[in-house]
Amino acid sequence: MSQRSCLSIILAAGEGTRMKSAMPKVLHAIAGLPMVAHVVKAAEAAGATALALVIGHGAEEMRKAAQKFAPRAETFVQERRLGTAHAVLAAREAISKDYDDILVMFGDTPLIDAGVLAAARQKLAEGAAVAVIGFRPPNPTGYGRLVEKGGRLAAIREEKDCSEAEKKIGFCNAGMMAVAGKHALRLLDKVGNSNAKGEFYLTDIVEIAGAEGLDVVATEASFESALGINNRAELAEAEGIWQGRRRREAMLSGVTLIAPETVYFSHDTEIGADTIVEPNVWFGPGVKIASGARIHAFSHIEGATIASNCDVGPFARLRPGADLKQKAKVGNFCEIKQATIEEGAKVNHLTYIGDARVGAGANIGAGTITCNYDGYSKFFTDIGEGAFVGSNSSLVAPLTIGKGGYIASGSVITESVPDDALAFGRARQKTLPGKGRELRERFASAAAAKKRVAE
Ligand code: UD1
Ligand code: MG
Repeated sequence: MSQRSCLSIILAAGEGTRMKSAMPKVLHAIAGLPMVAHVVKAAEAAGATALALVIGHGAEEMRKAAQKFAPRAETFVQERRLGTAHAVLAAREAISKDYDDILVMFGDTPLIDAGVLAAARQKLAEGAAVAVIGFRPPNPTGYGRLVEKGGRLAAIREEKDCSEAEKKIGFCNAGMMAVAGKHALRLLDKVGNSNAKGEFYLTDIVEIAGAEGLDVVATEASFESALGINNRAELAEAEGIWQGRRRREAMLSGVTLIAPETVYFSHDTEIGADTIVEPNVWFGPGVKIASGARIHAFSHIEGATIASNCDVGPFARLRPGADLKQKAKVGNFCEIKQATIEEGAKVNHLTYIGDARVGAGANIGAGTITCNYDGYSKFFTDIGEGAFVGSNSSLVAPLTIGKGGYIASGSVITESVPDDALAFGRARQKTLPGKGRELRERFASAAAAKKRVAE
């Protein structure tokens, strides 16, 4: 089948009023990726060689977003929403390019899996003119019903046009279908709008193709994979299903999730075998974790690369550009941004490391802060291999601490420190014997005198 060319037409012109959003519905995200981008991924995985995106509402925003998630896609504007067949025909120019297969998909069914689409294409390869993707929703109300006659798919009837008998049919139209390219334009051009809604229904091509004596078949998808999203409750439901699938996939590939239902993945999270993820961990986009790492509870990680056998958290925050090399350790209440933590280095407690490199085996004491920003620009801190930074130090960038450098705790370091040097950046301690008691007595008698005056 791979040699058959395939155009995927994704309908996304709808307003999505029930989302109650300023943003077009299909740009709302599942696992950090717009719904319509999930649909694009499924189309590509099912072998689509070209993509047409039919947009309408929020066209400018849609075009801009599409440049990111589907740079190859051609966009077509459907000026007036006159029905699904009318929407498909907005891409007339693309349809007329002689593709073997045309996959019509909806931008708001983000869980569609490539296998379902490939199965429909397979039917075309076997000679069908139209392969409809059907499903059996728990409640069929509102869906088009697949009307079969003599074991063959004869028509799709929209709810509003159904007879009482047809309303009892449980096998419904999921909305998506595969159409043979050589028949597509002719069939679509025959669609009229004499129905209850006065719309041009894509579903009418089933009857039209049947009347021409062409072969029309139905394939079946699971209810979940055909779930259409109309409001934010359904968006959350789809997110839940997506996360469930991804967690399972991670576990089956060798990742231990102690409480899987509390771990959130992004669409692009990569995580190696024998990594253990404790409860309540969030992965934002762009995270890559090698094998054998341990991510402790309540860590928030995005845009970070974590090498094998690293130890992160609990309560760690890794921001974009955090790059932990093998066996690095980032402990509780530490934030790392745009910084490399070299092999075996330790940043264990209450620390901010930003725009920096921490050399191999270096030890960063509790409460260390890289002061990387002066309100206008960011500056770099380079900490050498094996350096020791004492607790509660402020490292004012730009700054270099040499290999084996040693910073006394409580220092404010503003000048670079050579290899193996010891640097203090604080006033020396002075201890005055007996002065503590003397001071306390003086304060106590002053307070007593004040009280007497008040009485
Ligand atoms: C459609 C199917 C129905 C199926 C259901 C599954 C038709 C006629 N009906 O009904 O059989 O059971 O999906 O969810 O196809 N769109 C446009 N432009 C338009 C009209 C629609 O871009 O002019 C887009 C919408 O944004 C949406 C998709 O097409 O993504 C489906 O349209 P919608 O109005 O939701 O169709 P349904 O009535 O749900
Ligand atoms: Mg719908």
